[in-house]
Amino acid sequence: MKPIVELVNVSKIFRSGGEEVHALRGIDLKVERGEFTAIAGPSGSGKTTLLNVISGIEKVDGGKVIFDGIPINGMDENALSDLRLHRIGFVFQAYNLIPTLTARENVEFILFLRGVGEKERRERVEKVFRELGIENLLDRFPHQMSGGQQQRVAIARAIVGEPDIVLADEPTANLDSRNSMAIIELMKNLNREKGITFLFSTHDPLIMENARRIVYLRDGEIVKEEWK
Ligand SMILES: Nc1ncnc2c1ncn2[C@@H]1O[C@H](COP(=O)(O)OP(=O)(O)OP(=O)(O)O)[C@@H](O)[C@H]1O
Ligand SMILES: [Mg+2]
Repeated sequence: MKPIVELVNVSKIFRSGGEEVHALRGIDLKVERGEFTAIAGPSGSGKTTLLNVISGIEKVDGGKVIFDGIPINGMDENALSDLRLHRIGFVFQAYNLIPTLTARENVEFILFLRGVGEKERRERVEKVFRELGIENLLDRFPHQMSGGQQQRVAIARAIVGEPDIVLADEPTANLDSRNSMAIIELMKNLNREKGITFLFSTHDPLIMENARRIVYLRDGEIVKEEWK
């Protein structure tokens, strides 16, 4: 099978005020369906940039990004947003729930954007909340939930559309160690039981230990890889 994501000699340079930062230098990486992989590395090593070039949020300056066999480099913005909406789930460090919508509405919104009808939206949202064991949160607003609860809702939002891959940028960075472990266990179960592919960045050694593959970045380069 084709890898779900393939990067070939990818480079990314940020230029600001005459200064150049080489955020990614010659990255070669293949992610197969079903992986549960961590991108590790110190602050500034390029983890966020790596995730952002995979979804086309950032353009590369060299090399190729291939999503399920399709090169995305030359894609126009409409095709890219379509790809993000239909095929990729996102989880961010700061949860990024819309504060004026309930948990249910935050998750439903993704399906609304895809044109799914009201009844099916409700059923699918409730099913995901049941599967994650968070039905009790359906009608809460973000400010009525703890960080760990908001991140569970963010995971519900990431998977409700059955994406090909979930990209998670430091999903546990704002959580205490108990909630971090709970979130990583939740992702692991979704990976094991539903075969959802996860690619997530982290600095946290505890979280890294739970990955099946760890890709270590330093100064924009892959310096080491581990499989478990
Ligand atoms: N929009 C931008 N403009 C200029 N430089 C940027 C931009 N985004 C990232 N960089 C730089 O690119 C490098 C890689 O940044 P990136 O955010 O990918 O690192 P990171 O590994 O995610 O770090 P952290 O662990 O702190 O989140 C850093 O030197 C950063 O300052
Ligand atoms: Mg980052």
